[in-house]
Amino acid sequence: MDSIIVKGNGPLSGQIPIAGAKNTCLKLMCASILSEEPLTLTNVPRLSDVKTLSALLESLGIEVGRLNDGRTLALSASNLTSSLAHYDMVRKLRASFNVLGPLIGRTGEAIVSLPGGCAIGARAVDFHLAGLEKMGAKVELKDGYVHASGDLVGTEVEFPFPSVGATENIMCAAVLAKGTTVIRNAAREPDTQALADCLIAMGADIEGAGTETMVIRGVDGLHGTTHRVITDRIELGTYMTAPGIAGGEIECIGGRRDLLEAFCVKMEEAGLEITETEKGLKVRHPGGRLKAVDVTTAPYPGFPTDLQAQFMAMMCFAEGTSTLEETIFENRFMHAPELIRMGANVEVSGGTAKVTGVEGLKGAPVMATDLRASVSLILAGMAAEGETQVNRVYHLDRGYEQLEEKLSALGATVKRVEGS
Ligand code: EPZ
Repeated sequence: MDSIIVKGNGPLSGQIPIAGAKNTCLKLMCASILSEEPLTLTNVPRLSDVKTLSALLESLGIEVGRLNDGRTLALSASNLTSSLAHYDMVRKLRASFNVLGPLIGRTGEAIVSLPGGCAIGARAVDFHLAGLEKMGAKVELKDGYVHASGDLVGTEVEFPFPSVGATENIMCAAVLAKGTTVIRNAAREPDTQALADCLIAMGADIEGAGTETMVIRGVDGLHGTTHRVITDRIELGTYMTAPGIAGGEIECIGGRRDLLEAFCVKMEEAGLEITETEKGLKVRHPGGRLKAVDVTTAPYPGFPTDLQAQFMAMMCFAEGTSTLEETIFENRFMHAPELIRMGANVEVSGGTAKVTGVEGLKGAPVMATDLRASVSLILAGMAAEGETQVNRVYHLDRGYEQLEEKLSALGATVKRVEGS
């Protein structure tokens, strides 16, 4: 497996392009199932997750045309040949579970492998299944698969927690259902709003996307459209922490503050200067040490859980003690022991991590365990003394396009070493 070698190399400067949003793109690809006419996606990030999901969709009979060097996908579901999403594919990519809603919405049947847990938590799907049952689907669990079938009828679905995936699965199931579906306590993430925007452009009747109550009136069918994938707010936030850790000033091309307001407020509290420019967002380190800041992750519009690890890496160098509360996933501090190996002072107790900043970290061989933990270790290595080797970086390739090239262009010393 490949690893990445990072060396501290002083303050950063330059521009970094922000790609299309991984998590949004994956759900938009699933939504292509809902229409006989082609859905064309532009600004597609070139990531292994996109390739993995493309293969799954092709196994269902969807044609996936890759244009413009993979940055445009033409997805045509005019001739679905299967409703089975196989374990071998779903286990590699949890987002594949979001073919469930579109499949049963379009064909009245879906057999989708349960995604199983992952490093950061159990990742249950009970909200997804309860919602479909409420809409009249027959849902059975057999041999690790969800067997869902039936003609869906609009109804009221209320989530105990504003689950992103469940909101998106039920929204897709509802667009072709008979009658009106009301989703209460819906996820408000920009990714979910962007999915609704695309479905509306395809002819769906959806109101309230981005609020906690969505109203979806079923229509007879959807038509094709061309949709540009929204900027990846998590990639954006990730790279915004880079100068927070290594110093200097960078400009994130395509960055939008409105996608990350809660995060930007905390970054400014820590002392970073964030300026909106014509091309995106500039982030500047004021010099000296940042201030320690407390953070609690929360559903949008709160502080994103997907930026908690990166923020922790930044707090390892700050002046004072920062308390980080992780409220979304039950095991999302696996980057902490690795940062501690680099000399960080982090105490984890349940869903709370106390980070007391130190003057500097020392490079060390560290191991990645999930996408965001991986990148937090790379970021920390950019300000550590000596060399940091981050192993098992296949996680990174899932969510960060050309990470080494992008960081090297800012002056970082980051290189990939082919694994055995
Ligand atoms: C999406 O995961 C993202 N993934 C995650 O990004 C992100 O962290 C998460 O939303 C929260 O923003 C994709 O979009 C592919 P949830 P999802 O359903 O949909 C519990 C990354 O690094 N829950 O909002 O799985 C669940 O266990 C990834 O890019 C249930 O209990 O998140 C979790 O504790 C990581 N039952 C919480 O809700 C359910 O049926 C939030 O999950 C569904 C969820």
